[in-house]
Amino acid sequence: MSGWRLAALLLAVIAASPASADEALEQGKADFAKLCAPCHGVDAKGHGPEAAKLPKKPVDLTRITERYGRFPEDRVFATIAGLDMPEGHGTREMPVWGDVFVSEGVGQSTSVADALRASDDASRRIAGLMHYLETLQGAP
Ligand code: HEC
Repeated sequence: MSGWRLAALLLAVIAASPASADEALEQGKADFAKLCAPCHGVDAKGHGPEAAKLPKKPVDLTRITERYGRFPEDRVFATIAGLDMPEGHGTREMPVWGDVFVSEGVGQSTSVADALRASDDASRRIAGLMHYLETLQGAP
């Protein structure tokens, strides 16, 4: 299954779950300030303190809708999660947040239930980040 299709599927699962959308958005906002702002900048325009050190410049995340003509939820979700990376094609500048969030959630546990919960939470955090980015589209 392609990364985008998997992203669309995960998004549908999250949309069907009862967790509050406001909560996810708040978490996304907090995650962005902590994890994304170093490169993308607090205003998401790509001028974070780490940006200058990168060989590839972070893009302006307030212009996603402008660039694609609509806000491509599945694509943004896949990019953040790292689902769009072809296997074995080395690294990209941006960390693979899907892996980071799942590892954080699993911790030292070896239980399958914990792994499933962690993967669920990771999808929810990524969806929260995606929705937060959606609120920034067209920011001056
Ligand atoms: C280490 C620096 C770095 C961090 C931290 C980082 N990014 Fe990125 N991001 C980049 C770079 C560089 C690009 C563009 C080049 C690329 O594709 O690798 C990018 C691209 C993106 C894109 C693609 C935009 C498009 O138009 O296709 C999205 C979405 C994105 N980042 C979201 C995030 C989110 C959300 C976080 C925090 C969870 C984050 N980034 C953290 C460096 C970073």
